[in-house]
Formats: sequence, C-alpha cells, structure tokens
Amino acid sequence: MKKMINIAVLASGSGSNFEAIAKAVKRGYFKANLKLLMTDKENSFVRLRAKRFKVRDIFVNPKDFKTRRDFDRQIIKILRKEKIGLVALAGFMRIISPVFINAFRNKILNIHPAILPSFKGVDAITQAYDYGVRITGVSVHFVDQKMDHGPIILQEALGIDSNEKLKELEERIHKIEHRLYPKAIKLFVEKKLKVKGRKVFLLS
Ligand code: GRF
Repeated sequence: MKKMINIAVLASGSGSNFEAIAKAVKRGYFKANLKLLMTDKENSFVRLRAKRFKVRDIFVNPKDFKTRRDFDRQIIKILRKEKIGLVALAGFMRIISPVFINAFRNKILNIHPAILPSFKGVDAITQAYDYGVRITGVSVHFVDQKMDHGPIILQEALGIDSNEKLKELEERIHKIEHRLYPKAIKLFVEKKLKVKGRKVFLLS
C-alpha cells in the first residue's frame, strides 16, 4: 500500500483554516495524515481546535531561541522527526528563514486573503477594503524567500460592493479560503502540481 503523506499545519491564531483542512481530511476529500499542528502562540485558539480534532499540537516558544534561524531549526527538527511531507502555513505570523525554505523546498504552502501580488503582508482584507478595490479574493501559493511571493497555485476572486461592511467581506473571504486551501492541498497530495519558475502547472 502506498504511504500517505504527513501534513503539518503551522498557525498562530484562530485556526479556521486549520479546521477546514482537518475537516477535509476527515471526510476523505484527499488521502493524507494531518499529523500535527505547530504554533508559536501558547494560548492560540487553534490549539483548542487541534484538540477537538485529536491532532497533536506542539507549541514552540520563540522566546526560547536567540535568533529566528534557531527557532526555525527547531521547527525543522520536529518536522523531520515526524516525516512531514507538506507544511501548510495557515495564519502563521512569522517570517520564515531561508534555512526552513531550503529544507522544505516546494513543500510549504501558504494562504493569503487577497489576490497576490496585491495587498501583501498583514491585514490584507482591510488593506483591500480601505483601498476601495472592486475585486479582491484569496491566493494559495508555494512559499519562497520573499513574503507572500512564491508561485501561485490557486486564486479565487470576488467583487466588493461599495456598501459592503468590512465584516461581511471578511466572512466571504474566509468562506472562500476554507474551500480553496483544501483544494490546493488535494492537488499537492495527489502530485498534480509542477513548479517551473514562477508558474505552477496543474497536471491532469
Ligand atoms: C487567514 O485569513 C489567512 O489567509 C491568513 O491568516 C488568516 C488566518 O485565519 N494568512 P485562521 O487563523 O485560519 O482563522
């Protein structure tokens, strides 16, 4: 029997995307082990979600490490020990150092709540809302050395109505995220993604 890929989710906050991934695994949307949740925030809500889904959660305290690189080395050590084949960043509020990216080249995904390359960084939904764009959306991409920059796997756009409240827009974005991230992970797990430079080819 073919070995299933082990997935680790790295998150710092609420974890609604973690939950979407956990639900996708549970209902067999793709075949993989959601092996662990790693977080840099001791009291993050995502840890409670992990408990609910019986996913092992590990808190790594950044304060225990002198540099970002040392922290990342610890993360890599755990990921290797657990034989992780895919790292899904889901609201992980830390910049990842090159040592991490090189150790898991083209095996780290991220979700961003805007149509990249627009509105990179934190508070992307608010950035887009305040800018007054008519269209925004969600991107799932491979992670490379630059923030919110790697090759794009999937994007989905939505229109913004001038009367729309920020809260409503946030809800609509999150709804898309919870569908799009599992979809991108499914493509990865089923080996249907081929990266060539900035482009990601979707194999049939
Ligand atoms: C999401 O909007 C994701 O796109 C961004 O951080 C947020 C995390 O939300 N990177 P949650 O913790 O998954 O609810």
